[in-house]
Amino acid sequence: MSNKGNSRSNARISDKDIIRILSNKGKVSIFSKTYKAFTTGKSNIEDNEERLFLCVCNDNIVKQKRIIQSPLNYTGGKYKLLSQILPLFPQKISCFVDLFCGGCNVGININSDKIILNDTNSYVIGIYNTFKKLSNKEIFSSIQQIISKYKLSNTSKYGYEKYSVNSYDGLIKHNKDKFVIMRNDFNSLTKKDSYYYILLYVLIVFSFNNQIRFNKEGNYNLPVGKRDFNLKMQKKLFDFIDIIQKEKYIFTNNDFRKLKINKLKKDSFVYCDPPYLITCATYNERAGWTQKDEKDLLEFLNILNKNNIKFALSNVLSNKGKENKILMDWINKYKYKVIHLNNTYSNSNYHTKNKEKITDEVLIINY
Ligand SMILES: C[S@@+](CC[C@H](N)C(=O)[O-])C[C@H]1O[C@@H](n2cnc3c(N)ncnc32)[C@H](O)[C@@H]1O
Repeated sequence: MSNKGNSRSNARISDKDIIRILSNKGKVSIFSKTYKAFTTGKSNIEDNEERLFLCVCNDNIVKQKRIIQSPLNYTGGKYKLLSQILPLFPQKISCFVDLFCGGCNVGININSDKIILNDTNSYVIGIYNTFKKLSNKEIFSSIQQIISKYKLSNTSKYGYEKYSVNSYDGLIKHNKDKFVIMRNDFNSLTKKDSYYYILLYVLIVFSFNNQIRFNKEGNYNLPVGKRDFNLKMQKKLFDFIDIIQKEKYIFTNNDFRKLKINKLKKDSFVYCDPPYLITCATYNERAGWTQKDEKDLLEFLNILNKNNIKFALSNVLSNKGKENKILMDWINKYKYKVIHLNNTYSNSNYHTKNKEKITDEVLIINY
């Protein structure tokens, strides 16, 4: 289209915006043809073009009606990046391996016949296997029983007014002492049964920023948080259980090095979202992710590549002035494709004056 004409006829969505919006759904192609513009004789419009934007929707997204969010609000979770990541995945996936599944944000939004969700964190895998084993009704009623037993706030039932809270402090004042009793009880449990994992889930829901952290002695040690098992949390849990109870979802609790590559069938796809070497998270603590792990993972991805298995690796190349040199050297050496993602949701990159603070979040692929 021409940019001439009056301001009214130029008040339209830009090509850049059309492409950006459509790219979230699949691969975009543009067809254009010259077109004689209609004018009232006042403007002289030449080079006018008619355009057709064709979007071949990515199968992985079309069949999934809407994006589901993990019920764990997992640190480093990829929920907010899914609209950028999913269109970059292969169209046909026979088996999807989410090798560092964490909150499962990626694995639960994939359309594939088999979905393997793996993580070394035995607590989260224990929670997922419990959610897979019990019925929705049993899970929700156990949660409500725990909330009543410890007299924790229950805003979905009684509203916020009952607890006279303000939005800044949230429910901390009401829940603080009760939460500590529940946490002590949890830490004294020895049997890791369904009750143990549901109690852990309730602890996470009522804890600071819904995080998961255990000290060296193996005790859950986070303080109380601002929120409770509100309607939003309930909805996330309900949707999650509904999905993972399908037979095709399999949880495993192994180190990534244990994945049996020779068992992967044609069109299997391995997605890796490991802890990042140059950022902080609870799973990075106490040598949770070392340079050796990083190098082993990169070598493991080379082996996948040699076996013609497609992979995608999420990572950050630079963050707060630090660079991941091991990763950059590997990319340069093996010429894998790097897609830079827009992660402005987390650190307002657009507005930051200090470029050192910018996080270069990427997806690295071998296809
Ligand atoms: C960035 S998080 C994954 C977040 C996830 N993609 C999501 O969207 O919720 C990284 C995960 O890697 C797991 N992890 C750390 N070391 C691992 C290893 N050696 N093998 C498999 N998983 C590991 C951590 O427990 C953590 O859950």
